[in-house]
Amino acid sequence: MSRSFKDEKNIIYSIINAIESVVSHREEFVPLHEPCFSGNEWAYVKDCLDTGWVSSVGSYVDRFELMLADFIGVKYAVAVVNGTAALHICLKLVGVAPGDEVLIPALTFVATANAVTYCNAIPHFVDSEERTLGIDPYKLRDYLYDIAIIRTDDCINKITGRRIKAVVPMHTFGHPVDMDPLLDVCSEFKLELVEDAAESLGSYYKGKHTGNFGKVSALSFNGNKIITTGGGGAILSNNKELAKLAKHITTTAKLPHRWLFYHDMVGYNYRMPNLNAALGCAQMENLNDFIYMKRCLAQNYKAAFSSINEVHFFTENNFSKSNYWLNALIIKRNSICKKEEILEALNDVGIMTRPAWMLLSELPIYGQCPKMDLSVAKNLQSFLINIPSSSKLGVKRG
Ligand SMILES: Cc1ncc(COP(=O)(O)O)c(C=O)c1O
Repeated sequence: MSRSFKDEKNIIYSIINAIESVVSHREEFVPLHEPCFSGNEWAYVKDCLDTGWVSSVGSYVDRFELMLADFIGVKYAVAVVNGTAALHICLKLVGVAPGDEVLIPALTFVATANAVTYCNAIPHFVDSEERTLGIDPYKLRDYLYDIAIIRTDDCINKITGRRIKAVVPMHTFGHPVDMDPLLDVCSEFKLELVEDAAESLGSYYKGKHTGNFGKVSALSFNGNKIITTGGGGAILSNNKELAKLAKHITTTAKLPHRWLFYHDMVGYNYRMPNLNAALGCAQMENLNDFIYMKRCLAQNYKAAFSSINEVHFFTENNFSKSNYWLNALIIKRNSICKKEEILEALNDVGIMTRPAWMLLSELPIYGQCPKMDLSVAKNLQSFLINIPSSSKLGVKRG
């Protein structure tokens, strides 16, 4: 056995030990993320079944929307079928039109790009920064100085000739993007801002909840998110007219009438069913506990990894408070450990871990889209792994 092979094995053992010490109360297999149903979920879902209000009408949708808006500190929330649908409508609401380009991170879930494509627009990939894991606003500004020009009130890509209409920051794993400089870029280059806050319910930038910075923003309540409605999402806005339009478009654009089916535009059947919203109301009642447990879990991981020099446990910035939706370990670049070997060893012992998404610019479906230098995103993708993050793994220590 060569010396470096032995060393690598030892480091991998110490990573396994560190995780096991944090999740010592675990069962045999530790999933990456599982939902927690410890409150009124059964009661509220049963109520829907008992009363027959399971579908597109029922009081839980309104209640869920109010609970969301109240928690986030946003004026309006519109519940929809999933986060992808929420993003799709957000882009339409800010005026993304066929042939436009939309700036999105290359390091994100595919839904961010798909929503752009649903508008017949083109994703334009932006690099990330190591501090936040999200869009690097300074690098984006320098890039736009090179490739963009303002004509009347539009930002035009000088290379493709297309309008760049919007930018979609995504708060990766719950860690907020550095929003102030990004807002400056938006006003300088006349870009609309849509936040992909799918992962950041319970995360704050300089004391303000994420989802409050864009004209409209999107949340997801997929089964792996901090709260779940089974499948679901929401559109957030502080603008009354946009919120009204969001509700209208996502409910088939039907004008209210007792019997007439009059639709004044091509709408979408994106409304969240009452059954899902019932689950959501129960989950919202426990959201503060989930955040608390997740922050405890992150603190425990941070302590456990502090003595392992080969890896860095990713933590929030001084300008943010993260929900630590998904914990991330970054293998140091000079480490002798390989990502694949760590993934294999951890998964072999029943600790579910996975790498970050492939860069979207490397997927054949998006390979032809415009992009800036993506070296930081590429490095993050190469060295990052997500480790178990369910709120039930969190315990208060010390
Ligand atoms: C960053 C990001 N954007 C969008 C989505 C799409 O949400 P959904 O799965 O609810 O459609 C997700 C999650 O799944 C996500 O992580």
